Amino acid sequence: MEVNPYERLWIGISVAALIVMLVALALAGFGLGVQLPGDAGTLDPRKLVEQPPFDKPGVYELAPEKYQVIMIARAWQFNPAKIEVPVGSEVTFRITSVDVTHGLLLDGTNVNVMIIPGQVSEMTHTFKKAGTYNFYCHEYCGTGHQAMFGQVIVAP
Ligand code: CUA
Repeated sequence: MEVNPYERLWIGISVAALIVMLVALALAGFGLGVQLPGDAGTLDPRKLVEQPPFDKPGVYELAPEKYQVIMIARAWQFNPAKIEVPVGSEVTFRITSVDVTHGLLLDGTNVNVMIIPGQVSEMTHTFKKAGTYNFYCHEYCGTGHQAMFGQVIVAP
């Protein structure tokens, strides 16, 4: 079969573009850890405050340098809003909402999740650098939305 040289050229360019994009996707997913938050379960938001682990929000040390943050978002605050961990810690955020849809965006990390009532969102991040990381609600949730923020303080 005769293929026109220009057609052959464009087939080559198309295949090359496809390969570049697949490599970029693989690098983002496996190299940079860009991934969808895990499906960490569902619960009844009306009974949230009675249901473990959300009856006791806070920061829990599971093992040395391994922490779990049980977090509740509500209009218009995060609980806990101040999280302190030592540098090098792997922190898993387990978070849900009692009222409306909120968001959590943690500066300088890949932590960026929707917080949906009835749904538990989970994300893990390892804090390799000491410092203060601000987090915000990035989903408009009412008149106090801009006041909904907190900090992760990573101590050296
Ligand atoms: Cu919560 Cu915006």
